[in-house]
Amino acid sequence: MSTLTVNKLTPSMGAEITGVDLDRLLHDDAMPELIRQGLREHGVLLFHDLGFTPQTQVTFSERLGQLDRSSGEEHNEPGIMRVSMDPNKNGGQETVRGTFNWHMDGCTLPPGRNPSPATVLTCVEVSETGGQTEFASTRALFASLTAQEQERLTTLRVVHSVAGSRRRVIANSTPEQEAEWARMGVREHPLVWRHRQGRPSLVIGGTSDYLVGMDKEESRVLLDELVDRATTADRVYRHEWSIGDTVIWDNPGMLHRVEPYEDGSNREMIRCTLIGEEPTE
Ligand SMILES: [Fe+2]
Repeated sequence: MSTLTVNKLTPSMGAEITGVDLDRLLHDDAMPELIRQGLREHGVLLFHDLGFTPQTQVTFSERLGQLDRSSGEEHNEPGIMRVSMDPNKNGGQETVRGTFNWHMDGCTLPPGRNPSPATVLTCVEVSETGGQTEFASTRALFASLTAQEQERLTTLRVVHSVAGSRRRVIANSTPEQEAEWARMGVREHPLVWRHRQGRPSLVIGGTSDYLVGMDKEESRVLLDELVDRATTADRVYRHEWSIGDTVIWDNPGMLHRVEPYEDGSNREMIRCTLIGEEPTE
């Protein structure tokens, strides 16, 4: 029977996987389920030098789940998003800057679409300064709360919005930007996400705007406090990228962020995002 060989990256989360090559990822029938289990257990899985090309990363990601093919642009492999400060490649500065805060991906998708179960990210070029990616588990945070806290949070609902996240990084937004952000998404979720498999997590982070029915300021304090508690130094895995590293993470159970790097940086990642099949409620 196939197993994964795991070296823990921190005492509480993250695992480096060794002894798995591209051929096994693409052809071993046991691999997709082993990786899904590994993600639920460890949150972040790290592989070195798999030799992924955009095409083989897409092929692998499609084995893992339903690949979001809408993210690629015409000059890219469909299903590959190039994460870069260069707007000609994809994303661009405004998008990248939005990821400098702790966040979960996909919380502002329209009704009927769910946060991605997993993201596959491979490093093509590193930045000269910054650019490390940090991860923290909200499944671990929820498990660490008192029964009373868990009960209270389970009754709350949270609104996430693109505007909420952009305003934090862009001071003095223009009316045009505000109008564009409003079109880009507002979505309500239960604060606690009880999953079909694995421990419950919290739907918090950068796009969280306010808690429904609560005073705005009180709501902001609580949302920020939850992120602070999830991301204390002993609960964070910080990945220092080398070219050829691939990281896969359990998006519904994690917060992640990128350490700021320079606007003209050559840093480039190729990213595949899976389509979420499980609603938050
Ligand atoms: Fe992200």
